[in-house]
Amino acid sequence: MQRRSLGSSGTTVAALGLGCMGMSEFYGASDDAKSLELLARAVDLGIDFLDTADTYGLGHNERLLGDFLRRDGQALRRKLVIATKFGIVREAGKYERRIDNSPDYIRSACEASLRRLGVDTIDLYYCHRRNPETPIEETTGAMADLVLAGKVRQIGFSEISTDTLRRACAVHPVAAVQSEYSLWSREPEQGMLQACAELGVTFVAYSPLGRAFLTGTVHTEELPDGDFRKINPRFTGEAEAKNRRLVDALGRFSTARNLTNAQVALAWLLGKHEHVVPIPGTRRIAYLEQNVAAAEHRLSLAEIDELDRLFDPARVAGARYPAAGMVGIE
Ligand SMILES: NC(=O)c1ccc[n+]([C@@H]2O[C@H](COP(=O)([O-])OP(=O)(O)OC[C@H]3O[C@@H](n4cnc5c(N)ncnc54)[C@H](OP(=O)(O)O)[C@@H]3O)[C@@H](O)[C@H]2O)c1
Repeated sequence: MQRRSLGSSGTTVAALGLGCMGMSEFYGASDDAKSLELLARAVDLGIDFLDTADTYGLGHNERLLGDFLRRDGQALRRKLVIATKFGIVREAGKYERRIDNSPDYIRSACEASLRRLGVDTIDLYYCHRRNPETPIEETTGAMADLVLAGKVRQIGFSEISTDTLRRACAVHPVAAVQSEYSLWSREPEQGMLQACAELGVTFVAYSPLGRAFLTGTVHTEELPDGDFRKINPRFTGEAEAKNRRLVDALGRFSTARNLTNAQVALAWLLGKHEHVVPIPGTRRIAYLEQNVAAAEHRLSLAEIDELDRLFDPARVAGARYPAAGMVGIE
């Protein structure tokens, strides 16, 4: 698979990472044995960038990766770039959250993540959401101290503004910004992608398949109770019907090229920007293999342009999060 830089320190990762969140929470039931098989297949296919967070399954996701890392000992650990995140504090069974960016919290969250992952160092440690009550300089300073202490290799931020990114970069080099970016979530095109290119920051695109909506394989009424998408405004009511028409058009585009919607959605991201690394999530090996194949497909500039216009943000209906999920998004 093609490779991309992670920040400007010389680290590279495969152009597609793997989002592990769905193996613990948000998209219905998961099975640890199957997740471990999927992780092994991902590594076989050349994926070396795994994305998790302390909040996914309230520690379950990091423990799952820890179990995986222990399977082949240090040889496997050395091959992988493990990214995790701190800052979202939730109670079991609840979606509502508060955000903590204070230095004391960061230090204790890092220790807990290291323990659950069973590693000495986190390769990329993100601040998951911003709490403006703690100045970004203080938050970044605490993260930089973790780098100095050897507990973290590189740092990143999720869903921050370009102003915050510039202030953070003035304290310590930032390797990555991770925010939602896909055909139907184009906010990063309003300055963040340009700022990242200028500052040598990799842009990690989360939910690159629109939480499966873009693939055309998910219908809200069929989702189990508790699936996060049932409370996501884009998946519900009139917005769903409107967005479905865009996905149907995407389906025609994909079929004409003998690709799946998922493959087109990923090839579009990879083709548009050299400094973007999408991290699609899946619990199924067949989907994983399909997604990895997308990294080999290059769309022409004319095709990218056509998709840009099809998914003009004005045509997409509904907010990308319910109100409780917008906390900490800049
Ligand atoms: N920083 C943040 O705030 C933040 C927020 C959300 C997510 N993330 C990260 O980003 C990662 C990816 O985002 P995401 O999981 O939310 O959304 P996504 O990658 O856009 O979509 C995942 C969904 O798409 C399905 N899927 C995957 N490949 C497919 C294919 N080829 N055909 C049909 N369906 C396919 C998966 O199904 P199955 O699971 O059934 O296989 C899953 O339901 C997460 O795992 C997490 O690590 C970060």
